[in-house]
Amino acid sequence: MCGIVGYVGRQKAAAIMLEGLKRLEYRGYDSAGLAVLQNNGLTLVKCIGRVAALAKLASGKKLTGTCGISHTRWATHGGVTDANAHPHVSSDGQIALVHNGVIENYVHMKRFLLEKGYTFKSETDTEVLANLIAYHYAKQPEPAVNGEGSRFLEAVRKTLLHVEGTYGIAVLSPAHPGELVAARKGSPLILGVGDHEHLIASDVSALVSRTQNVVYLKDGELVHVTPAGFTLSTLDLADVSPVIDQVTWSVDEAELGEHPHFMRKEIFEQPLALENAMRGRFSADGSSANFGGLNLTPADFRTIDRFVFTSCGTGWHACLVAEHLIERFARIPVEVDYASEFRYRNAPLDRDALFFVISQSGETIDTLAALREAKRKGYKCMAICNVVGSTIAREADGGIYQHAGPEIGVASTKAFTSQLLIAAMFALYVARMRDMSFADGVEYVAGLKAVPDLARRVLEQAPHIQQIALRYAKYNDFLFLGRLSLFPIALEGALKLKEISYIHAEGYPAAEMKHGPIALISDQCPSVFLVPKGELFNKVLSSMQEIKARKGLIIAIVPECLDLPEGLADEVITIPDCHEAALPVLATIPVQLLSYYIAVARGCDVDKPRNLAKSVTVE
Ligand code: F6R
Repeated sequence: MCGIVGYVGRQKAAAIMLEGLKRLEYRGYDSAGLAVLQNNGLTLVKCIGRVAALAKLASGKKLTGTCGISHTRWATHGGVTDANAHPHVSSDGQIALVHNGVIENYVHMKRFLLEKGYTFKSETDTEVLANLIAYHYAKQPEPAVNGEGSRFLEAVRKTLLHVEGTYGIAVLSPAHPGELVAARKGSPLILGVGDHEHLIASDVSALVSRTQNVVYLKDGELVHVTPAGFTLSTLDLADVSPVIDQVTWSVDEAELGEHPHFMRKEIFEQPLALENAMRGRFSADGSSANFGGLNLTPADFRTIDRFVFTSCGTGWHACLVAEHLIERFARIPVEVDYASEFRYRNAPLDRDALFFVISQSGETIDTLAALREAKRKGYKCMAICNVVGSTIAREADGGIYQHAGPEIGVASTKAFTSQLLIAAMFALYVARMRDMSFADGVEYVAGLKAVPDLARRVLEQAPHIQQIALRYAKYNDFLFLGRLSLFPIALEGALKLKEISYIHAEGYPAAEMKHGPIALISDQCPSVFLVPKGELFNKVLSSMQEIKARKGLIIAIVPECLDLPEGLADEVITIPDCHEAALPVLATIPVQLLSYYIAVARGCDVDKPRNLAKSVTVE
C-alpha cells in the first residue's frame, strides 16, 4: 500500500527520501509528496502521479533541509488529488505527517476538531491525525518537562491513544527541527540506524542503500529519532530496549540490472530462488526435509490431525498446491481458506490442527489478522514468508523463510514458485513421518533437487512463448484449465494475466469447464490447458476436444514425454519431465511468461499495474 520514508541526519533529506520512494513505488503509486524542515519552517511538495513527477517538482525548489518525511500514496480515503496526497499539515502549521493505514474513527475526531477551530483541506483520514496531534501539542505544558522533544512525542502518543484503525506514521514539526516521531499499529514501519543519521521506512528496500542495521517496530511502539540517536517506547509509556537486526540482502538485489521490468527479472531469478528455498533443508540421508524454524518435534507432528492453510491472492494458490501435495503424499487432511474470510467466519477447527499462513511480504493485513485469530483460539501458527523480520514472520510461532530475495514486481512470480517448492518439501517432511518409504523419499528428494535446472530449461523457451504471446495479445478473454495440482496453477495463470494485462481470464478445473464456462468458448476466447501426465491425461484430451469442437483456440502446456494428437492444440509449450511434486513449479513458469509478454505487447506497465499495490496493508 502506501510507502513511507523519513530521514534525519546530516545530508539533504529530499534527495535521500526521493531515492527511497523510488524503491517503494511498487507499494502504491497514485501520488507522492515530501516535507522538509528548513529556514525555520516547513517546505511541502506534493502532486498526483509517480515519484518521477514529484522529483521533477522538487527539483524546482531549493530543498536543503536535513530532516524530512515523504510518502507514495495508494488511495483509500479520498480520490487521487494533489490535496489528498501526503504529507498532511495541521491547520496551525505545527505538525506534518505521512500515514499508511486507515483511521476508522476519523469522523468523530474530525467533528471534535472542527468544533475546536481546526480546518481541513483534504478528504483524507490522515489530515485528522495531523490536526489531532497539533491539538494535543498545543495543550502540552511549555517548556518541555522531560527534555527536548518530549512535548512533541507526548502529543503524538496522546493522539494515538484515541485512534481506532491501523497506522504507520512519521511526523515532524517545525518547532522541533532535527526530530522525527514515528509509530505503528497494523502497518509496517522500520527504523534504519545509520552513521549519524536515521531513517524511517515502511519497507527495508527504502533503507538498504544507506544502512543494513534496522529495528522492526512492533504494534503499539513509538520511536523518537534525532541524528544522534533514538528512543523506543510504547503507547503506555514503557521503555523498550531496541533489537537491531541486520538486513541480509544488498541494494543490488533490488535493482533492475539488464531487465526492462522487475517482473521479467524475477521470473528469470527463479532457478536461484528455488535453490535458495532448498539450501540446507534436506536430511543427511537424502530421504526427507528439515525445517528447524518450525520449532516442532516429530512427536509434535504425530499428534496433528489436520493442517489449515490461509493466505491471499497468489499465496492462496500456493495453499491449494500445499493441500494437494500434503493430502496426496502424507495423507493428512488439509483445509484451505482465504485469510480475509477466515478472520470473520469463526471457523470451527479440529483440536489438533496446525495453522499455516503463507505471505511473501509478511505484512498482508488479512493474513496477519487470520494468524492472530488462530493464535487467539490457542492454535500454533506457522508462517511461510519471504521477508525476514516482517510482522507475520515475527508473530508466528515458527516458520519457514523462503530466501527468494526481494520481490519488487507487483505480480508475484519467484515468491510463488518458491512457496510451491517449500510446500512440496513440507509434504515430504510430514509424509516421511507417516507412511512414505525411505526409497520413495530418496526419489522425491532427487526430484526436487532437479527443479532449478529444469526451471532453467523452461526459461529457455521464453522466445517461443513471446511469439505465442504476440499472436494472442489481441484477445480479451482467456480460460486457464488444469486438474489436481495444476488447477491452482490455472487459477494463478488467470490471476497473472488479468492483473498485469487487464484481460478477463478465469481459471477452472478442466472438467468443470463443461458445467458453465464452456459457454464462453468461441474463436475469440483462447484456452490455456495445463496438461497432466498419468490417468487424467486422456480426460484432459477430451476437454480439449470439446473446446476444439466449438472453434476454441488452445495453448497447451505439456510435459515433454506426452504426445498430443496432431492439430489438437494451436500452440504447444513443453515442460521437462519431472517428479510429480515438482510439476506445479515447472508448469507455472510458462503461464508467468505468457502473461508477461502479453502485457508488454499490450503496452501495460507490468511492474505497476493499475489499482494494485504490492503489499496490501489495509483491509
Ligand atoms: C498477485 C499477488 C497478490 C499477493 C497477495 C498476498 O500477483 O502478488 O495476490 O499474492 O496480495 O500477498 P503476500 O504474499 O505478500 O501476503
